[in-house]
Amino acid sequence: MDLKKVKVGLVGSGNISYTYLNTLTKFSIIDMVGCSDLIPEKSKARAELFGIRQMTTEEILADPEIEIVVNTTELFNHNKVTKMILEAGKHVYSEKAMGDNYEGAKANYDLAREKGLRLGSAPDTYMGAAYQTARKLIDDGMIGIPLLAYALCFRGYPFHAMPMELPKTFGQHGSSITYDMAGYYINALVALLGPVKRASGYSRFFEDRMYINTAHPRYGQKIDKNTGETVMMGNLEFENGCYASLAMCSEGFPPEIPRVEILGTEGTLILPDPNYFGGWGRDVYLTRAGNPGEKFKVPFTHGFSDTDPNEPPKSGRREPCHNSWRGIAVVDMAYAIRRGRPHRSSAELALHTVEILTAIDNSNADNKVYTIETRPERPAPLKPGFYGNPLVMEASIDL
Ligand SMILES: NC(=O)c1ccc[n+]([C@@H]2O[C@H](COP(=O)([O-])OP(=O)(O)OC[C@H]3O[C@@H](n4cnc5c(N)ncnc54)[C@H](O)[C@@H]3O)[C@@H](O)[C@H]2O)c1
Repeated sequence: MDLKKVKVGLVGSGNISYTYLNTLTKFSIIDMVGCSDLIPEKSKARAELFGIRQMTTEEILADPEIEIVVNTTELFNHNKVTKMILEAGKHVYSEKAMGDNYEGAKANYDLAREKGLRLGSAPDTYMGAAYQTARKLIDDGMIGIPLLAYALCFRGYPFHAMPMELPKTFGQHGSSITYDMAGYYINALVALLGPVKRASGYSRFFEDRMYINTAHPRYGQKIDKNTGETVMMGNLEFENGCYASLAMCSEGFPPEIPRVEILGTEGTLILPDPNYFGGWGRDVYLTRAGNPGEKFKVPFTHGFSDTDPNEPPKSGRREPCHNSWRGIAVVDMAYAIRRGRPHRSSAELALHTVEILTAIDNSNADNKVYTIETRPERPAPLKPGFYGNPLVMEASIDL
């Protein structure tokens, strides 16, 4: 490789840091330097597991060689930590959502532009095998002109007792499910269809919900209002003319029901859960005019499907999303820096999600339809046909 490696640090060595470090230590463009956490035992454990340095956040920010810092802190810390990293003069890749409120996210967007720094945010599952295959099918005209899309996520947080774990500050704008999950669906739709032009919708907190998991310490009690809106229906108009419904609900029950469908003049795409990269039963189906009623499973055209979920994480404990490729947008950002090209998970794309969610909430309050100001480019597709080990697939990211 003739490109100089990009040194990366990670702030927030909690649950999801496992999958990031697992990904980032596999790619030749990345030199994963170290990780930090407010709780030193957490960063120590991650550093030892992945053979990197345990650092403090201050050390990461002061290291002149580290170019990108990955922010895997909790959602309510994203705006604050991202601001700190940008002020230290480093590029940032944040976990989703970019921020828990539009004002803070927009301020960081402006700060990054002012300083000429790169900013991007998860999710990057749209770069996976399933959604890249779908992108190719749409770009190749297999469904004609896209007219309608449905995106639905129906989950059961009370059952899993998750609202207990949400911070008190959470819920002024958006809610658990919207800020936690809608980004997967919005990024996937924008990667397939382009940016959203107008948004409106409804959202509410489901007042009568109780903690229904008998193992939960507050079993039988009413759920606190400050968890934010937990039922949301958004109406999106894309710049290309396609309309979409975006339905998010965390008041359901397991197993989760994810649905994404894109309907066009000549065919329909039925797509898997955008919380995953694809594979292991998460497939892409196509119906075509001319074969009415027939649903074809489309072989993936791209690499980066999920790895074997039955293979245990090397930490030996439960690690969420351990078999995924979360973090490949950081690899893309590293190549983009070296090649002087735009990175796929752009700051505009990250802010777009927060702006859309804010617009839906505001629309619920004032009955207006909002024009969305951010107009991200569709992230460039990956090159098709690169399968196998990460070093082979890496070439499909480097445009
Ligand atoms: N857990 C999941 O299943 C999952 C899946 C996908 C995405 N995510 C996203 O990843 C992010 C993190 O989630 P998580 O579950 O890993 O949370 P977590 O609570 O396990 O980890 C966050 C860590 O950040 C640390 N931290 C906070 N501020 C810090 C600072 N200033 N300096 C250093 N460390 C700091 C905390 O001490 C904590 O250990 C969230 O945005 C979440 O939405 C989580």
